[in-house]
Amino acid sequence: MLNPLHASAASEFAALQARGCAFLGTETAIMGGAMSWVSERHLVSAISNAGGFGVIACGAMPPELLEREIAATQALTRKPFGVNLITMHPKLDELIQVCLRAKVGHIVLAGGIPPGPAVRAVKDGGARLIAFAPALVLAKRLQKSGVDALVIEGAEAGGHIGPVSLTVLAQEILPHIRDIPVFVAGGLGRGEAILGYLEMGAAGAQLGTRFAASVESIAHENFKQAFIRANARDALPSIQLDQRFAVIPVRGLVNEGTKRFLAHQAEVVQKFQAGELDKTAAQLSIEHFWAGALRRAVIDGDVETGSVMAGQSVGMVTSVQSVADILAELHAQALAALVARAQRQ
Ligand SMILES: Cc1cc2nc3c(=O)[nH]c(=O)nc-3n(C[C@H](O)[C@H](O)[C@H](O)COP(=O)(O)O)c2cc1C
Repeated sequence: MLNPLHASAASEFAALQARGCAFLGTETAIMGGAMSWVSERHLVSAISNAGGFGVIACGAMPPELLEREIAATQALTRKPFGVNLITMHPKLDELIQVCLRAKVGHIVLAGGIPPGPAVRAVKDGGARLIAFAPALVLAKRLQKSGVDALVIEGAEAGGHIGPVSLTVLAQEILPHIRDIPVFVAGGLGRGEAILGYLEMGAAGAQLGTRFAASVESIAHENFKQAFIRANARDALPSIQLDQRFAVIPVRGLVNEGTKRFLAHQAEVVQKFQAGELDKTAAQLSIEHFWAGALRRAVIDGDVETGSVMAGQSVGMVTSVQSVADILAELHAQALAALVARAQRQ
């Protein structure tokens, strides 16, 4: 039997999550952030079956593959899940139609401000649209354009990142966007932190790194062990060597690959200065360095030269846990914080 303090903490936490749960159609307002190569049928269905909201990462998949992945996920869960599409995918419109035909209820458009026609296609097709807001002005613009919910992802996150921390984004955006649910992401690894953001007005939270190292994740054992070994300070953004040649900021574990990337940039800049490469060729050579590198790390287990994308929350990955255990742990931590507060009062 629950003691009264615990029972009231549980109902308080449920109330704080209610809006996010209603929007997602879940028992808990925790989304599994889409992770290319990692967020496929097994992890996505495991998160949804455990009461959270799994999201398929479409990444560079062609429409036929996405269609198969959605069907395979639907075969593993009857619970709601979403699909994350990258806005610069050349077949974005077709991918949206694939999701709509398969009756996917929530589409996440990532990798930039979603183009108007894509927003309309999702809405006209009856799905709910989730987009990323990297600043308050953009959050307001997205809300006006008809987006149904926002994710604010801090620079602590794994993968492609913006420059601003979740601590600051949350203060900038949560007090002002009240009409649509806002989910927080980046660096979250414990329930107390999630509780804090819910109390600030967030509808829920999105986690990536912790789920990437779960039992159900298909990531290679080397990838999961690298997460267990790593501390927060090992998950660093990619470094741009020369201001003339842009490097897209991606947070991941420092390894031989990140060292080679610096050496590669230095070599490319030298060739450019010597007139051996023009500007476009030099930029492309820098951009191509990481092609296929995430797959190499996640699937092949090459954590030395591959791209081991990870958030600063990686320091809170201490073992390979099942998705259900991760969700139960986050829940228990949030409840313990509420109980401790009630005991102080
Ligand atoms: C290995 C990895 C791959 C990722 N790939 C994507 C992606 O393809 N699309 C996307 O929108 N976000 C991607 N992300 C970001 C996650 O969806 C999520 O927002 C982020 O991991 C949250 O921060 P956390 O890792 O600290 O929990 C990726 C993150 C990781 C760790």
